[in-house]
Amino acid sequence: MTVRVFVPRDSAARSVGADEVAERIAADGGAEVVRTGSRGMLWLEPLVEVETAAGRVGYGPVAPEDVDGLIAAGMLSGAGASLGLVEELPWMKRQQRLTFQRVGVVDPLSTADYVAHGGTRGLLAALAMPPADVVETAVDSGLRGRGGAGFPTGIKWRTVLGADADLKFVCCNADEGDSGTYADRMLIEGDPFTLIEGMTIAAYAVGAAEGYVYLRSEYPDAVATLKDAIERARDEGWLGPDILGSGFGFDLHVRVGAGAYICGEETSMLESLEGKRGMVRAKPPIPALEGLFGCPTVVNNVLSLATVPTILAHGAAEYAAYGTGRSLGTSVFQLGGNIAHGGIVETAFGITLGELVNDFGGGTSSGRPVRAVQVGGPLGAYLPVEQFDLPMDYEAFAAAGAMVGHGGIVVFDETVDMAAMARFAFEFCAAESCGKCTPCRVGAVRGVETIDRIVSGTDRAKNLVVLEDLCELMTDGSLCAMGGLTPMPVRSAVRHFGEDFQV
Ligand SMILES: Cc1cc2nc3c(=O)[nH]c(=O)nc-3n(C[C@H](O)[C@H](O)[C@H](O)COP(=O)(O)O)c2cc1C
Ligand code: SF4
Repeated sequence: MTVRVFVPRDSAARSVGADEVAERIAADGGAEVVRTGSRGMLWLEPLVEVETAAGRVGYGPVAPEDVDGLIAAGMLSGAGASLGLVEELPWMKRQQRLTFQRVGVVDPLSTADYVAHGGTRGLLAALAMPPADVVETAVDSGLRGRGGAGFPTGIKWRTVLGADADLKFVCCNADEGDSGTYADRMLIEGDPFTLIEGMTIAAYAVGAAEGYVYLRSEYPDAVATLKDAIERARDEGWLGPDILGSGFGFDLHVRVGAGAYICGEETSMLESLEGKRGMVRAKPPIPALEGLFGCPTVVNNVLSLATVPTILAHGAAEYAAYGTGRSLGTSVFQLGGNIAHGGIVETAFGITLGELVNDFGGGTSSGRPVRAVQVGGPLGAYLPVEQFDLPMDYEAFAAAGAMVGHGGIVVFDETVDMAAMARFAFEFCAAESCGKCTPCRVGAVRGVETIDRIVSGTDRAKNLVVLEDLCELMTDGSLCAMGGLTPMPVRSAVRHFGEDFQV
C-alpha cells in the first residue's frame, strides 16, 4: 500500500515553503501526498506528517532542500529525525479540539474525508429535529459569539426564528480584522465544510434560505478554498434546494471585503454586503430583526458557526461540560507577536493567560522577559505579567477591565514602549473610524495629540486628566464599539505601565 504523507496547504505553511516541500516529496514517487490544513504549530511549519501503523509521525520544520535527506533516512516509513507522533506532542495533547477537530487532519476539499471524520453528523441530527429544538440546543450549549462581543448564539437565533418574514439570511462574519488573529482563516482553509455545515444548521434553525460569507480580500487562499468547497457541497446535496433529501433549501455565497477594519462590525458588514460603503448603522433595529436588505439576519463569526456542527452531533450537554462559569465550551486562542511558539490552541475556557503564553507559547521569541500582552485585538487591554493568573473567561476579563474578544493574544517583551502603544490605539481608531459619530472621529485625533503632549512633558498632569476625560467620553458617547472600546488599550496602558508616560 502506498504510504500517505500529509503536507499543509494552509497559507501560513505555504508562506514558508510547504508547496515546494510537497512537490519534492511527490517527485520522489514513494508516497501519496495529501494536502491538509495546518495543525497550528506555526513554528514547525512546514510540518510533514507520515502515516504509520502507530499514527502520524511528524517532521518539521522541513525546508525543500531537507526532503531528499529525510527520505534517504527513512522518513516515508516514519524513521529518521522525527518529532514523534503528532497527536502525542505536548502542544496537541493538552488541547481539547472540538471546533478544530479536523483542521490539519483532513484534506479540506475531500467530502469523503469530511464524512469519514464525523462531518455532516450535526446537520443530519439538526434536520431530524424541529427548528425550534435546534435553536434551544444552541442555547443550552452555552455557545457565545466568538467574534468579540460574546453574545449567546442561541438567543440571537431565537430572535431571528421568532421574526415573521418571507426572507431571512445567515451571514458569516469572516472579516477577521483583529491584530494577532487568524483562526477564522485557518478554519476556512483547513476545514471549510464545517463552516458550511454550521451555516446550514443555523439557516434551518431560523428559517433562512440564503447565506453570505463576508471574507476579507487579504485571505485569497481562504476565498478560493471556500468557493471550491461550496461547489462540492452543492454536488453532495449539502447545499441547494433539497438538503440531504430533507426538503429544506439553503444556498451560500462568498463576498470579498475590501480591507476596512470597520467592515467587521456587523452593521457595517451588512452595508458592505449590500454594496454600500461600510458605515455603521444605529441600533435598534438589531440585525436579527432588520439586517441584510432589511430582513431578519443571523450574523455570526466563523468560529461560532463552525462550532455548531459538533454541538448538534454530540449534544448541548457535552459541549457545556467544558469551560467555566458562563464561558462554556472551548475557545480557539491564537498566540502571536513576540512569542517563541506561535499558533492555535483550542482549550476549554478557564485556562489562564500565563499557561497560554508561557506553557504553550514558551515565552518570547527574543528571549527577553514578557512585559505585556494584548488580548482581544486592537481594542483589547494590555495586561502585565502580574495578571497572568487571569482565567480566559468573558466575565473574569471584563472584571479586570479587559476582554477575551476573538481570542488573539499578542506578546511584547520588555523593550515595548507602552505610551507608543496607547498612541497607536488612537491612531488606529483615527484611521479606521467610519466617521459617523464625533466622539470617535474627532476623539481619536485628539487622543493622539494628548498622548504626544504627555510624553513630551507638556502639562503632563493636566493632560493625563484630559486623556481620562476623553476616554470616558469615547466610551459613553460612541455609536459603536470601535470608538467605544479604543479607550480600553489606552487606559490599561496608563494603569499598568504608567512609568512609560513619564518624560
Ligand atoms: C470595530 C469592530 C470590528 C469587528 N470585527 C469583527 C470581525 O472581524 N469578525 C467578527 O466576527 N466580528 C467582528 N466584530 C463583532 C461583530 O460586530 C459582531 O458582534 C459579530 O460578528 C457577531 O458574531 P458572533 O456573535 O458570532 O460573535 C467587530 C466589532 C467591531 C465593533
Ligand atoms: S464609533 Fe467610530 S466607527 Fe463606530 S459609528 Fe462612531 S465613528 Fe463610526
